[in-house]
Amino acid sequence: MYDIAIIGGGPGGYAAALYAHNFGLSVALIENERIGGTCLIKGCIPAKSWIQSAEVFSTVAGAEEFGVITSPPEFSWPRALERKQKIVEGLVKGLGGLLQQRGVDVIDGHGRISGSGKVNVTAADGSETKIAAKSTILATGSEAASIPGYDIDGVTIVTSDHALDWTEQPGRVAVIGAGVIGCEFASFLAEVGTEVHLFEMEDQLVPGMEPEAATVLARSFRKRKIKTYLGSGVGPARITDTGVTVPYGDESVEVDVVLVAVGRRPVTSGLGLDTVGVSTDHGFIEVNSATMRTTAADIYAVGDIVRGSPQLAHVAFAEAIAAVTHIATGDTAPIDYNAVPMVVYTHPEIASVGMTEAIASTAGYNVRTTEHGMRGVGRAIIQGEIGGTVKIVSETDGPILGATVVGPGAGEMIHELMYAVGWEALPSEAAAFVHAHPTVSEAIGETLMAAAGRGLH
Ligand code: NAI
Repeated sequence: MYDIAIIGGGPGGYAAALYAHNFGLSVALIENERIGGTCLIKGCIPAKSWIQSAEVFSTVAGAEEFGVITSPPEFSWPRALERKQKIVEGLVKGLGGLLQQRGVDVIDGHGRISGSGKVNVTAADGSETKIAAKSTILATGSEAASIPGYDIDGVTIVTSDHALDWTEQPGRVAVIGAGVIGCEFASFLAEVGTEVHLFEMEDQLVPGMEPEAATVLARSFRKRKIKTYLGSGVGPARITDTGVTVPYGDESVEVDVVLVAVGRRPVTSGLGLDTVGVSTDHGFIEVNSATMRTTAADIYAVGDIVRGSPQLAHVAFAEAIAAVTHIATGDTAPIDYNAVPMVVYTHPEIASVGMTEAIASTAGYNVRTTEHGMRGVGRAIIQGEIGGTVKIVSETDGPILGATVVGPGAGEMIHELMYAVGWEALPSEAAAFVHAHPTVSEAIGETLMAAAGRGLH
């Protein structure tokens, strides 16, 4: 009998398997595709590889401004694909090695709970293995959703799963949904010369993010000729001889391929959850957020399948740690979800942590906001990226509640504000620290000083 059976080998599942080693627990990790999950195989890692290739391309294309004369660069889609593949393969292989080193039994097949402490694994050839475990962790992740009139065929109407493996650069793409995935794809595709039409039902890009951040992104998208249709639902796609037509309002646009990015739904059907009393809500699993335990005492859930939890790989890691800690010790390791940063890898990058102004106001805080642009920040000017901004949301005469950074390296810079939010720092406490000069992070220092009521520049 294993101490833990884990169903799903993505960031939630493999992190739980690795972390269990700290307590000397025996683990079976069940996965019916490849270890790595969405993040490693068809999400974060391959997407960021494409984004990096596009960024290098645009840096070279704009090199003359920096005094570097080059011939006009050419974007080789197949080479960028090859590099992406190599990065993914390397990380998947490394992960496999690490799991082996930690003594984790990786079992190929589809896992299904057949009773308390019992998991049946069906391999691709139909053969069955029965596993017994004291505890089970569900970490089956999510899959791309679609909308009526957009049946995913993987060729003309696709999700990010397919787009990450395109072997040729598409000429014209319609992206449905300007959330995180939609904006990241629109951003990098346009950067390498694809014609992009981006449709969003809400009235701003990356809905839910601070409107100031969306405005900076919209400006950058306009510059790169991305056609953005806000407040715009779409009618059913029509496949024609020359491509696919996307209707909106009384008009339509013809493209070669439609990328649907309207959210992701949990993968929880066929897991045998009802046989053991695991409660779900629209497919999401209900857990005690301090322990990640479901309504069945020996079954835990982590990652994208958890109700109310943001669908982020780093959240899955943290939830895996919480679940394993509870299984091994009975202690709780609750996550401060409010202090979890989120990064949108567009150009410019957007990163946020804690509450936005709208959320803090709705929650009843007496809110004060402070913003500082990057136009006068030396390092940002040197980098040729002056469109960014920092916005800090604090309570009047109280702590920092949230922050958003837009600009080069925003995803790295957000972490100092993660501590500020997590430790409920007052703007004056955070502003007392000196930022290095010249750095883009000085924009955060300036915003903190202004939030503390004594701005410098
Ligand atoms: P999302 O929920 O972020 O965005 C979907 C967007 O589609 C929303 O803005 C919604 O208003 C819009 N939409 C829905 N139906 C529509 C319609 N019929 N017409 C036009 N627009 C429509 O979902 P997304 O981008 O698919 O991402 C899925 C999950 O993956 C998210 O939870 C996200 O946080 C996560 N993710 C995170 C990344 C990161 O942290 N960098 C990268 C990629 C994904």
